[in-house]
Amino acid sequence: MKKTIILKINGEKPELEKISLAAEVIRQGGLVAFPTETVYGLGADALNPKAVRKIYTAKNRPLDNPIIVHVANKDDVYRLAEKTPKFAEKLMEHFWPGPLTLVLKASKRVPRVTTGGLDTIAIRMPSHKVALALIKEAETPIAAPSANLAGRPSPTMAEHVIQDLYGRIDIILDAGPTKIGVESTVLDLTQDPPQILRPGGTTYEELKRILGKISIHPAALARREVQIEHARSPGMKHKHYAPKAKVILVEGELNAIINEIKKLAKQYIRDGKKVGILATDESLSMYDVGIVRSLGSRYNLASAAKNLFKLFREFDEERVDIIIAEGIPQKGLGLAVMNRLRRAAGYNIIRAR
Ligand code: TXA
Ligand code: MG
Repeated sequence: MKKTIILKINGEKPELEKISLAAEVIRQGGLVAFPTETVYGLGADALNPKAVRKIYTAKNRPLDNPIIVHVANKDDVYRLAEKTPKFAEKLMEHFWPGPLTLVLKASKRVPRVTTGGLDTIAIRMPSHKVALALIKEAETPIAAPSANLAGRPSPTMAEHVIQDLYGRIDIILDAGPTKIGVESTVLDLTQDPPQILRPGGTTYEELKRILGKISIHPAALARREVQIEHARSPGMKHKHYAPKAKVILVEGELNAIINEIKKLAKQYIRDGKKVGILATDESLSMYDVGIVRSLGSRYNLASAAKNLFKLFREFDEERVDIIIAEGIPQKGLGLAVMNRLRRAAGYNIIRAR
């Protein structure tokens, strides 16, 4: 086991000496967990194959799942990508720095291990001050998946990173909870029209306003198990975002959802199971059994995004056997939340009527 250094850092005005220390670790080929506006990332020098390989080992990540490369200036994009279509420019202009990842044809200088063997590369410029300062100070693009063990919910607080990766990485920069709470939107620009491979912090509606035409990969909607042998985003085929408990997702109209969840919860409790209910502010008081937690208001989907992964982990700490979750509207950030819920449910979805 490694000695992991945990450093509290100011998220608005990162202390230079802490950034310098972390940047030196990156330059030396080590691993640094750092906050972004979406979730915490586990970073290594994207151009150093040995360093990137350590990420896969620390996370137990399958080697065919490529890693997003984080940059602090646009010039790096032209070095890392072979081709940048004209709408890439427009998207960077509008959404960077921010929670949008662009998939482009990779240039030869990107190590294969960073792209999981693909000929494309996923790039984003995060907006978190600590992330930007770290990339700039390290003077290299930083490859960083979410800083959780493979298959676990993404970390939205340094405590989550500690739970999963303490003793496996060099440094954790702790700037408190992340703002958005779900990962970035992954948009494939090698397709025409561009295609959303993973819904996330930048919404479909925002992208559509800028691009006019976009599509969503069927696996991103995750309505049911789709055949994804030829998955363009290998992340699609790996089980993900999953708490240890079994997850059941109940969709439909709110009253029907509530009745169905009450019925299910009582059944499972009768069978001796410990049940968690993932509710919303509007329904919270309707449940009289189980451990009930709220994602926030159904009218504020940003709060659902912010709370989701934390609540998954809290249910695990309570050792519930089953989490029964309410479906929420799929607009705005709701699309990203529903994608995570559906995948956590392993497509175990009930339509309440
Ligand atoms: O918000 C985020 O995106 C966070 C923070 C740390 O930036 N990162 C993150 O990384 O969520 P990760 O590795 O957990 O998810 C990256 C996703 C995976 O589904 C992966 O398959 C996909 O992006 N991806 C990476 N490179 C790709 C590529 N070249 N083509 C298609 N998909 C790619
Ligand atoms: Mg991840």
